[in-house]
Amino acid sequence: MSSVTNVPARGARTPAEDAGQGADWGVLRQAADAAAARAYAPYSGLRVGAAGLGEDGTVVSGCNIENASFGLTLCAECGLVSALVGGGHGRLVAVSVTAGDGRPLAPCGRCRQLLMEHGGPGLLVDGGPTAPPQRLSELLPGAFDAADIVSRGTRTTTGGQDYDVG
Ligand code: THU
Repeated sequence: MSSVTNVPARGARTPAEDAGQGADWGVLRQAADAAAARAYAPYSGLRVGAAGLGEDGTVVSGCNIENASFGLTLCAECGLVSALVGGGHGRLVAVSVTAGDGRPLAPCGRCRQLLMEHGGPGLLVDGGPTAPPQRLSELLPGAFDAADIVSRGTRTTTGGQDYDVG
């Protein structure tokens, strides 16, 4: 038997989701482009920037950092999440990922999971100037999360983020 706390009713917006509704997408896109300009991507030549709005209103960003040992590459979203958590900016409420050209770039699968941990299913992901933002739950349906550890493992609590994947 497991119990998950602090989960709003299905369909209800969390305070973090409300904060995401007020995101200035132009500002986030510009911050993502600026981060992409600082990327270290000599192997792929794809410079990626990710910028996000923390629950405290701070814009944080990160860029991809490649390595001669290719598998060690850090995606831009890794840097973003590190800045978010390291700076104590709370949950991520809105995020824009670009290739430095102001247009959204699809976050890779691993990074969707990273973003889920720190933004939850209601995290808004930039759709670009001509499309509405998408909820992360649309990009990563049926996500594995902290509740699965409790419901399928032997522990009765988890220190991770509790959220409803709906
Ligand atoms: N990349 C990111 O930074 N984020 C993503 O979500 C997709 C991929 C980077 C990793 C690598 O440096 C380059 O793009 C090519 O895969």
